[in-house]
Amino acid sequence: MNVLRTKSIEQSLEDTDDPEYQLKKKLTALDLTVFGIGVVIGAGIFTLTGKVANQYAGPGVVFSFLLAAICCALAALCYAEFASTVPVAGSAYTFSYATLGEMIAWIIGWDLILELMLGASVVAQGWSTYLVLFLDEIGITWPASIGPADSAHFDWGHVNLAAVLLVAVLTTLIAVGIKESLRVNLVLVGIKLFIVLFVIVAGLFYVSGANYHPFIPPASDPIETSGLTQPLIQWVFGIEPQTFGILGIISAASVVFFAYIGFDVVATTAEEARNPQKDLPKGILGSLAICTVLYMAVALVVTGMVPYDKIDPEAALASAFTSVGKDGFATLVAAGAVAGLTTVVMTLMIGAVRVLFAMSRDGLLPHGFARTNPKTGTPVRITLTIGAAVALIAGFTPIDKLEEMVNIGTLTAFALVSIAVPVLRRTRPDLDRPFRVPFSPWLPILAALICVYLMVNLSVETWLRFLVWMVLGFVIYFAYGHGHSRVRTEEKTAA
Ligand code: ALA
Repeated sequence: MNVLRTKSIEQSLEDTDDPEYQLKKKLTALDLTVFGIGVVIGAGIFTLTGKVANQYAGPGVVFSFLLAAICCALAALCYAEFASTVPVAGSAYTFSYATLGEMIAWIIGWDLILELMLGASVVAQGWSTYLVLFLDEIGITWPASIGPADSAHFDWGHVNLAAVLLVAVLTTLIAVGIKESLRVNLVLVGIKLFIVLFVIVAGLFYVSGANYHPFIPPASDPIETSGLTQPLIQWVFGIEPQTFGILGIISAASVVFFAYIGFDVVATTAEEARNPQKDLPKGILGSLAICTVLYMAVALVVTGMVPYDKIDPEAALASAFTSVGKDGFATLVAAGAVAGLTTVVMTLMIGAVRVLFAMSRDGLLPHGFARTNPKTGTPVRITLTIGAAVALIAGFTPIDKLEEMVNIGTLTAFALVSIAVPVLRRTRPDLDRPFRVPFSPWLPILAALICVYLMVNLSVETWLRFLVWMVLGFVIYFAYGHGHSRVRTEEKTAA
């Protein structure tokens, strides 16, 4: 049983020439950067900024955003090298198929599907919360029985109709064609950037220097957690999570990490880029850089407007304006959040479709699944499947319980991609690498270590759920994928 067989880079590139299983090459560097910003700026900045400033870091949350950005930038450099070397749909999944072998590739692909599908569901629910808030502010009441519900107020059978409708509309857009969806994306990203800049510029007028003293509030007692909700690192080594002080800033970094999730999705569209070797690194690193600057500015302004211990942990950006008597501004911010979160859900779903597409094309899942529609040029069957799954999860489950799963899925993929960079340099030194990570192997190793550190800070229950998902993945791989893999079939034919 050969679970370590690899698919050569040449083979991956060759597969993309098969017209029935081909995606159109339409995207430019600007499209990719917009795409990246579209997926990165979302629920994270609109909700987490307030929560972590209030509970973990005070104004020091600015440094948390910087730390999380450094972690992502290290991983992003590794992604950029890979995406420029192997410009094929599927992102980390394809990279690892070429380097670490089929089974690891399957694990990563399975893992990415978890990140992207669950991420889309989490943000679709966040979107519905903002929609209800916005409607409320303009005097319209959305019935609670078909609105968002967290796990504390959840009954099985409850339907979050707003989230389901959003996913249905977006699924249709994605099925019609990626260029068309990107056009919608462009408009929505424009609105989102406007709102974020608006918060920064309008908020500056209400900043009071006094709120920055102390900038890093003194460390307080560790947070009391036990059982399944404690971080893995506490369960294993007894290290308790700290609030405020320097350690609080680090804890906050592992939470705000969520705000950066998504830039890796740019790599899933590699095959649709016109000039992937140059444009992918630009798209990945460009969107990450822009988001980092905006996040730090928003964090600085919001903590300057409201004393950190009085910041609203649920909807800090809108509430900051309400607290200075600007209710109209708050409504505008809520409307911007609705537009902003729409693009995040859409882009995460596009990413999930691309990964599933690559896995089916390789025969690890039923091959016919990956056939693209001749009219739209998109894999319609896969799009509808992902759409249905996201709608079900977003519409019928108390998703707030599963948010951390998105982080663990992403961090695992980051760590494996980082390790794969020096492996591929050793096994295939001959490949053309238009973009190279500096200081390899040290930088990729550091990137992987930081990811692992953030992972052990996630709760024991998240680790258990993640293990269950992985076991399910192994069962499917050995029951189906291993026997039907295209690489295996071709090896057999050649023999
Ligand atoms: N980074 C995305 C967000 O913050 C997932 O919503």
